[in-house]
Order: sequence, then structure tokens, then C-alpha cells
Amino acid sequence: MGTRHAAGGGATVLAGVGSSVPVHVVTNDDLAARLDTSDEWIRSRTGIVTRHVVAPGVATSDLAVEAGGHALKSAGRENVDVVIVATTTPDRQCPATAPAVAARLGLGHVPAFDVNAVCSGFVYGLATAAGMLGSGLFGSALLIGADTFSTILDHDDRSTAFLFGDGAGAVVLRAGEPDEPGALLALDMGADGDLEDLIIVPDGGARNPDGPADRFAMQGQAVYRQAVARMTETTKVVLEKVGWTPEDVDLFVGHQANQRILDAVAGRLGLPLDRVYSNLDRVGNTAAASIPLALSDAVGEGRLDTGDKVALAAFGGGATWGGAALTWPELRAQ
Ligand code: UT7
Repeated sequence: MGTRHAAGGGATVLAGVGSSVPVHVVTNDDLAARLDTSDEWIRSRTGIVTRHVVAPGVATSDLAVEAGGHALKSAGRENVDVVIVATTTPDRQCPATAPAVAARLGLGHVPAFDVNAVCSGFVYGLATAAGMLGSGLFGSALLIGADTFSTILDHDDRSTAFLFGDGAGAVVLRAGEPDEPGALLALDMGADGDLEDLIIVPDGGARNPDGPADRFAMQGQAVYRQAVARMTETTKVVLEKVGWTPEDVDLFVGHQANQRILDAVAGRLGLPLDRVYSNLDRVGNTAAASIPLALSDAVGEGRLDTGDKVALAAFGGGATWGGAALTWPELRAQ
């Protein structure tokens, strides 16, 4: 299938949303049974109560295919012009995961590639897709955020093991008009590579292919401070770009890393807490899946109505961050 040209007016419009989490649930008590931690500590420090974890042999693409299929159904489409998978846990180091996902979804020979911006991956993917749709290169895109951090965690490290869960969330995007419900109205992104050590899998890549430190590591407190500052700032930037005050925002969907981070960002922005979405208690931090999974869950809970003003914000490894403002389209999660 070749490149198709967009018919829209330069805007990117959200047209479908879907998600997938593995069946198996790990509770805080399950973790406390084998680590020096407790349900009380994890709940009070993060708000997380359970997370979903893949069974051995299940990989990121499996969740991505399921979420992508639900998003296509929600959009009422059987094809798109490009597939982007945002992930830090590809099925293999080579090749990218997106081509296999596209093939398994029966999408033909459309271009397909991965984006890695860790927990900001979905917003980076949104910007990538919006650039392609806005330029007229493509008319539609399937963007999937999918991660299985359980496959890269050090399960004996009590400072990281409890934070993450596996999952996938997906959106279908199409070229359209800026005044349509679902239009992506503003984006902001940034990165500070001087902070690459904050969130890292030190070994196993080209720098040190056979090194022993091949598990995820994080400087929790520094990440916490950066996440609050950057998510606040990027949200301010997108609100300013689109001309909304914090009171205008119907739902703020921030990267689900820690309830205290979401509360602190809301406090700094002056966002009422009842407009701050959270599914952290159930799914933990699902990395690139976090925002689209939250959007999908929010729809399922009836938290999003057509025309609602929605702000997104993420912070992740790199360090990377990004925000977006959009209105909500008329659709249902699958
Ligand atoms: O998506 C990527 C973005 N990631 C994040 O946004 C994560 C950001 N960071 C955080 O959310 C927090 O830093 C954590 C939740 C990871 C940790 O919370 P904290 O309030 O920063 O705790 P801390 O690291 O300052 O540790 C406080 C205490 C320490 O004990 P001492 O030194 O005070 O005696 C830790 O050893 O808690 C101890 N501790 C634990 N205790 C029970 C650390 N992990 C645990 C644990 N259970 N799992």
C-alpha cells in the first residue's frame, strides 16, 4: 500500500481509542510477600494498589495488537496509512515492533516504525503522527503506546519493582479540521540528555553489550522532582498555546507514575483534583501505554464527553517530556 494524501485541513483528529492489559494482576501484598516493602508504604507513596503483568512468553506486540485492534474498531476503520508503536520494551532489539504489529492487524504493507521516548513516548508519537498528517503525507495513523516493563525490571529491587505494570493503549488519528471535536490543538516537547542517568538500563545496548547491569534502574527522588516540574511546565505551555485557563480543562490526563506527582502538578497548575484523571491504583506506571490507557479507561468510566477540553502531560527517561491539548471526539472505548 502506498502513501495516501490527506484530505483534511491540516489538523490531526482523534478518531478511536482502545487498550489492553494482561490478565494477571500483582497486588502490593504479593510484592510484600517477597520484598522488604508493604501495601501501606506503596499505597501512601504512590497510590498504586495493583498492576497487570504479562505471563512468560507474552510480549509488548501482543498487547499492542490487542489495543490497536480495539482502537481501529472504535474508529470504525479497517485500515490506516501508517503505524507507530511507542515503546521502550520492544519484542526484540532488532527489528522494531511496529511492522509485526501492523502485519498482525492485517493492515497490509503500510509504513510502521517504533518511537522510543520512554514514558513520554505517546506524546512524542502523537507529534510524529501529527506532523505526518498535517503535512498531507498520510491521511490516517494508528499510534500505539505499549510497554512490558516487567520484562526489564530488577524484580529484587524494592525501589523500582512496585511502580510498573504492563499494558498498551492506542489511538487512531486522521487528518481533519481544527474545529472538529477530537482535534489536536497544541503540542509541546522537550528533552534534556544530561539527565540520561536518571532512568536507565545501563548495559545490554551498544555502549556495553555484554555488561551485567541489564535491568531497569531509576533515581527516584530526582525523577520525582523533574516529573513535577516538567509536567507542570509543558501543560502551561500547551494551555497558553491554545488559550485555555486551567479552569477550562475538563480532564487532565497526566502520565500515571505516582499519584503524588499528579496531585503536585495539579496543585501547581491550579487544576481541581476532580478533573485529574487517575487509574494508577489499578495499573501502576505502564510507561508509553500510560496516557492512551488512561484515555481509554476514562472513556469507559464516562469521564469524557464530546467536545471536552483535554490536556495531556508526560515525563520520562531521556529525560524527555511533552504535553498536548485536544478536544474530545464522539467515540467509545472498545
Ligand atoms: O515513569 C518514569 C517516571 N518515574 C517516576 O515518576 C517515579 C518518580 N519517583 C517516585 O515516584 C518516588 O521517588 C518513589 C515512589 C520511587 C519513591 O518514593 P520516595 O518518597 O521518593 O521514597 P525514597 O526513595 O525517598 O525512600 C524513602 C524511604 C527510604 O528509606 P530511608 O532511607 O528513609 O530509611 C527507602 O529505603 O523508603 C525506603 N523505601 C521503601 N520502603 C518500603 C524505598 N522503597 C521502598 C519500598 N518499600 N518499596
